[in-house]
Amino acid sequence: MTDRMAVALVVNGRPRRAAIEVHHTLLEVLRDDLGLTGTKECCLVGECGACTVVVDGRTVDACLMLAVEAAGREVTTVEGLAGGGALSALQAAFLETGAAQCGFCIPGQLLSATALLATTPRPTRAEIEEGLAGNLCRCAGYEQIIEAVQLAAEGSPGRERHPAPPRGVDVAAVPDAGVAPQ
Ligand code: FES
Ligand code: FES
Repeated sequence: MTDRMAVALVVNGRPRRAAIEVHHTLLEVLRDDLGLTGTKECCLVGECGACTVVVDGRTVDACLMLAVEAAGREVTTVEGLAGGGALSALQAAFLETGAAQCGFCIPGQLLSATALLATTPRPTRAEIEEGLAGNLCRCAGYEQIIEAVQLAAEGSPGRERHPAPPRGVDVAAVPDAGVAPQ
């Protein structure tokens, strides 16, 4: 017999309910119960940052947080960043600089950078490095990622040129603006 309990939380501005196993993590509930697979599963021990989401304004490793701990709280995942038919300025900047290579780390990078810019709108390079220190990129795209955060902080000029991809399209698969046809 399994222990299930109803949990209500707000995900990307939308109230959600799920009957979850009490030992399941927020990562499991986001991906398996709510179908939000943009949050990536990798090390499962808090080392890589691929599962980073924002809970009540603070970044957390969703693999280390029990879903029951998120009850009644506001969770933002990568699916919640684009809105109104356009990418967020940060997502547009990631495209602009070619920061997304294989793309696996990018949702976590975006959430960490979003939380950073919410509290520090004009971060120094050192503040960006510190803000993203928990997010590993195996493609070693750190320079482009830092450049993207700097670009977004300045006000990304590319936002209007990058309409949001349709649902279900991985943002990493969207062509890099730098190689768009002339
Ligand atoms: S999967 Fe959570 S930190 Fe790596
Ligand atoms: S873009 Fe491949 S792991 Fe970061």
